[in-house]
Amino acid sequence: MRLGMGLVGAGFVGPHHIDAVRRLGFVDVVAIAGSSEASARAKADALGVPKAYGSFEALVADPSVHVVHNATPNYLHARVSAAAIAAGKHIVSDKPLAMSASEALALLGQAERAGVVHAVTFNYRGNPLVQQARHAIDGGEIGKPHFVHGSYLQDWLLFDTDYSWRLEPDKGGASSALGDVGSHWCDLAEHMTGLRIVEVLADITTTIPIRRKPLESPGQKPETFQGAAEVASTPVDVKVEDLASVLLRFDNGARGSFSVGQVCAGHKNDLRIEVCGSAASLAWRQEQQNELWIGRRDRASAVLQKDPSLLDRAVRPYAHLPGGHQESWADAFCNVMRDIYGVIAAGKGMSNLPPAFASFADGYRANCLVDAMLESARRGSVWTPCRP
Ligand SMILES: NC(=O)c1ccc[n+]([C@@H]2O[C@H](COP(=O)([O-])OP(=O)(O)OC[C@H]3O[C@@H](n4cnc5c(N)ncnc54)[C@H](O)[C@@H]3O)[C@@H](O)[C@H]2O)c1
Repeated sequence: MRLGMGLVGAGFVGPHHIDAVRRLGFVDVVAIAGSSEASARAKADALGVPKAYGSFEALVADPSVHVVHNATPNYLHARVSAAAIAAGKHIVSDKPLAMSASEALALLGQAERAGVVHAVTFNYRGNPLVQQARHAIDGGEIGKPHFVHGSYLQDWLLFDTDYSWRLEPDKGGASSALGDVGSHWCDLAEHMTGLRIVEVLADITTTIPIRRKPLESPGQKPETFQGAAEVASTPVDVKVEDLASVLLRFDNGARGSFSVGQVCAGHKNDLRIEVCGSAASLAWRQEQQNELWIGRRDRASAVLQKDPSLLDRAVRPYAHLPGGHQESWADAFCNVMRDIYGVIAAGKGMSNLPPAFASFADGYRANCLVDAMLESARRGSVWTPCRP
């Protein structure tokens, strides 16, 4: 059976949803919804998509759309996802699932009651070497994990002329760096280790408290990563954090820490994670994603190059090119879509989820963690439990 996909929000990441599902071979991209009919039509024409809608309500009502992809700015996530679920559609939401844990919990409940397939794009799970690391940790190859640490640094908000809806709490949420990229890091840390973060202590700051917001001219809304144009601007106060460091305690007693920053020159999409165990360490870096470092005490450390023939059998389906042929961000994104659409095509609801499948429960979890970090910072950087 072929499945019809409809995309709401075709800015930076939306077109990557389209590319990924097209590669699966049994998905037809049937419609795009944008903030206006004209913008949706322009995007649909550019991406070879037949239908264009000026509202997400019209897209979710289209009977040829079986799966709705939600790639709108954060403040629209809940409304778009709720409308899709109410129309009985399967839903793939980009992260963060919602603006807060309570909003995310409501969406999870609605999706479960409706019996639709619900997924969140924590796409770094789709990297073959992330799956290899997860498999190795699960198999006891590094012993008991006792330290999980890393960072997720970017530089696209380094200058005061850099601006995004992500900096406006009513559009991006109460957090910028932690919600936008910290949510990815925390999901990856829990996914790779199988551990749960139970307590956090966060130190957050806004390094650029006043930014120049471009004055919008009709039809010229900047999309993410479009770069700072030389346009008229107005100074605005920024309240959300662009830099944060967090100490972590895990449910097995392991300790951890990570930093996020959007103002770190030279770091583009620099997610790093390392898990140190009683027997060995494993480290993975998104910007060098075809390598997994294996740290050892009693013999030489090693670097495993991504090569399907060297990966564990269970992990091989996540690698599609032979050794020496680099796989990338878009390939991992496609792996996540393959896992999600496999579940949809099987028609058995949310049972037997494959590893790279992150559900609304995982999205809710990430919202809870970010909320706990914000609460910790608000209370003067004190240890704060993570619920649930
Ligand atoms: N998984 C990832 O790695 C990843 C990467 C980037 C962004 N994201 C997430 O994807 C979402 C979108 O981010 P982006 O960087 O693409 O933002 P963006 O601003 O580039 O794109 C958002 C798009 O939504 C459109 N839009 C606004 N209002 C709309 C409405 N009412 N109906 C339909 N479309 C509307 C905008 O016109 C724009 O085209 C965010 O939630 C972000 O966190 C995830």
